[in-house]
Amino acid sequence: MICDNLTVSNGRLLFAGQDTVELARQYGTPLYLMDEDRIRANCQVYTEAFRRHFGPGARPLYASKANSFQRIYEIMREEGMGIDVVSSGEIYTALRAGYDLGQAYFHSNNKTDEDIRYSMDHGIGYFVADNVEEIKAIEAEAARRGIKQRVLLRLTPGIDPHTYEAIATGKVDSKFGSAIETGQAEEITLFTLRQPHVELVGFHCHVGSQVFAEDVFERAAVIMLEFAAHMEKAHGYQTRQLDLGGGYGVRYVECDPVLDVDAKVAQVAAAAKGACARLGIALPEIHMEPGRSIVGDAGLTLYTVGTVKEIPGYKNYVSVDGGMPDNPRFALYGASYTCLLANKLDQPAEFPCSVVGRCCESGDIIQEHVLLPGSVGRGDLLAVCTTGAYNYSMASNYNRLPRPPIVMLRGGNESYVAVRRESLEDLCRNDL
Ligand code: LLP
Repeated sequence: MICDNLTVSNGRLLFAGQDTVELARQYGTPLYLMDEDRIRANCQVYTEAFRRHFGPGARPLYASKANSFQRIYEIMREEGMGIDVVSSGEIYTALRAGYDLGQAYFHSNNKTDEDIRYSMDHGIGYFVADNVEEIKAIEAEAARRGIKQRVLLRLTPGIDPHTYEAIATGKVDSKFGSAIETGQAEEITLFTLRQPHVELVGFHCHVGSQVFAEDVFERAAVIMLEFAAHMEKAHGYQTRQLDLGGGYGVRYVECDPVLDVDAKVAQVAAAAKGACARLGIALPEIHMEPGRSIVGDAGLTLYTVGTVKEIPGYKNYVSVDGGMPDNPRFALYGASYTCLLANKLDQPAEFPCSVVGRCCESGDIIQEHVLLPGSVGRGDLLAVCTTGAYNYSMASNYNRLPRPPIVMLRGGNESYVAVRRESLEDLCRNDL
């Protein structure tokens, strides 16, 4: 199995120790399951690694775009995680969960004036400003309020993280941030330092997502620290925080590597400390923003199989009762997933097929080149593993399909609804 919270008993798939067939019966399908114990364990790996390898003040921030709903922010609060938010919607959700916004970092490349006002109304801790226009807008709003707003600047270190093009962000030609290479990073730093109502606390970068490549974060840390040292020597500005973004990959399929987050954080810490010693600067508080690696392997989606269509000499299709509205990642990125027939794991998987959704669109595919038992048919239960990140948070109501609920699992035998299933009325609640 690709993750150790997946096990098999009597031919049935257990997730977080609980029988998926029973859970599907109890809650219906399509169904997002989230393993609360795994989310907490993933948080603890990061918080402990940060405590061990970096100094005080260093901390992981959960990138809540990976999966944003009230309960997750409660868990982040309880686990002592900071958060990264990107919209008033994420902020509102976090506030409803009682999360202290002073611990939040507000990203995105285009914060609206309304976002800036709303987040300041609620005491946002930090903005991660993407460009000069944002600094101007933050300065204007902070001046109006007579406050000094803390900000970090998002820079592009010019690193290719070797992931899907659509989720690589650290290269110079990215829509995000100011490039060090072109001199724009220095310009925006000097501009920010001149603003009376903005306090520059440091720098941020994010090179990409689903990254496994060796030493990407180490290289990013070194480039960012070299920039910080230049700012200190040339302009007397001392960086207090350095946020290296998110991006560590998770296992979707057997051939994905197993990532040892503690060892990775140790390597980044060694690279950062080495660079600081060489450059003669103090180590800033280091932050990272894991999203996928906090929630990815804590999620699993269950579907009921409907139509099975064989086209002799061509291919076979197994249709499920969800699809691209609850998981658009194959359609968007050609992303890999492991699909299992959760009620027939004692049968050999030798029937090649594409697992497809129920939308009126050929691109509505969950996964191609899947092997399932030959007896697959209507009423069987299909599990898609590792769906905890960027599934619910990217879900839509395409084809007017209600979004599935999120059911949390904990303690090996407890389950509860964290997000209820959308109803048909929910679909029309804003229609006039
Ligand atoms: N920090 C920043 C500034 C980010 O933009 C992101 C992700 C993260 C942290 C978290 O990265 P993670 O640890 O989750 O890799 N929808 C795509 C992923 C987009 C990632 C966007 N930014 C997908 O489904 O693969």
